Amino acid sequence: MDMNLNIGVIRGDGIGPEIVTEAMKVLDRTAEIYGHTCDYTQLLLGGASIDAHGVPLTDETVEKAKKCSAVLMGSIGGDAKVSPWYKLEPSKRPEAGLLGIRKALNLFANLRPAILYDELKGACPLKEEITEGGFDLMIMRELTGGLYFGERKTVEENGVMTAYDSLTYNENEIRRIAVRAFDIAMKRGKKVTSVDKANVLDSSRLWRKVVEEVAKDYPEVALEHMLVDNCAMQLVKDPKQFDVVLTENMFGDILSDEASMVTGSIGMLASASLNETKFGLYEPSGGSAPDIAGKGIANPIATILSAAMMLRFSFDLDKEADAIEAAVARVLKEGYRTVDIMSEGRVQIGTEKMGDLIASYIA
Ligand code: IPM
Ligand code: MG
Repeated sequence: MDMNLNIGVIRGDGIGPEIVTEAMKVLDRTAEIYGHTCDYTQLLLGGASIDAHGVPLTDETVEKAKKCSAVLMGSIGGDAKVSPWYKLEPSKRPEAGLLGIRKALNLFANLRPAILYDELKGACPLKEEITEGGFDLMIMRELTGGLYFGERKTVEENGVMTAYDSLTYNENEIRRIAVRAFDIAMKRGKKVTSVDKANVLDSSRLWRKVVEEVAKDYPEVALEHMLVDNCAMQLVKDPKQFDVVLTENMFGDILSDEASMVTGSIGMLASASLNETKFGLYEPSGGSAPDIAGKGIANPIATILSAAMMLRFSFDLDKEADAIEAAVARVLKEGYRTVDIMSEGRVQIGTEKMGDLIASYIA
């Protein structure tokens, strides 16, 4: 069935515009081959929004995003040492825009797949005996609660500067993300590792209790609990043991960067942030890399794979998503690499060429 895909696009800051351009190229080619059309709405967020409107997120962006079926995003933020955006108070900086849109659109479920591609084993910092046979795990990060959205303040108490950040979760917030994790696990390896710090934190003890309740509805899924410090260690010791890693916001932020590195490059990792509907915000897991912005060397693959996730989750276009993933696998197999994943004997290419090749391999 031909579809008109109504896609919001946040090009963003740093390498954002470059990598999004390539993802749109691949989407357009995919749409052309499969008989769909893409209708893009440009949205401003982060630094680009500060430059235009003085704030990192406007109501207009939220309203326009809500009218789209999905949003594809590059990356936001700049170099905090030099960018004027970071002279603003924290609530006006680029990152506040990203947190704001996650909250405004209720994007509580953040899926971050970490896959070791056979062809990229050379870029993986782990020993071969550990990565033998590859690994494929999915971090399911809670995205609209916990420390990120708890009350915070910095005050002077008896002449001593004191800062507060509060970590709060209610059972409903835990339940809905746990349900998502088990649902996904049913379509994958049927294992959930719930990561917490239940030996110290009350929020983690509630987390564990609710996750166990949810698990009762999924008798086929094996549930294990793991403390976050141990998980950090296990990810480099034996990443193959994981299928779905379910965890709260802050732990997920940290563990997903770690998981990305063991795949070789953060430039390869896609992500989806979903709410209760089909709507999602899709973005590479990596940042805006201001140091290489404009040089034409950024790896667009994470953004291209995010576009594939968008087709799969928001539009139910599995064949089209498969086609994009296959095209990515083919360029890697043929030896094409951007600089971040370059290794001896391969062919180094830039951002645009990578996008061109992947688009041309869509079938
Ligand atoms: C991420 C990023 C964000 C986060 C930052 C930019 C606020 O690190 O998406 O992982 O911490 O969630
Ligand atoms: Mg992060």
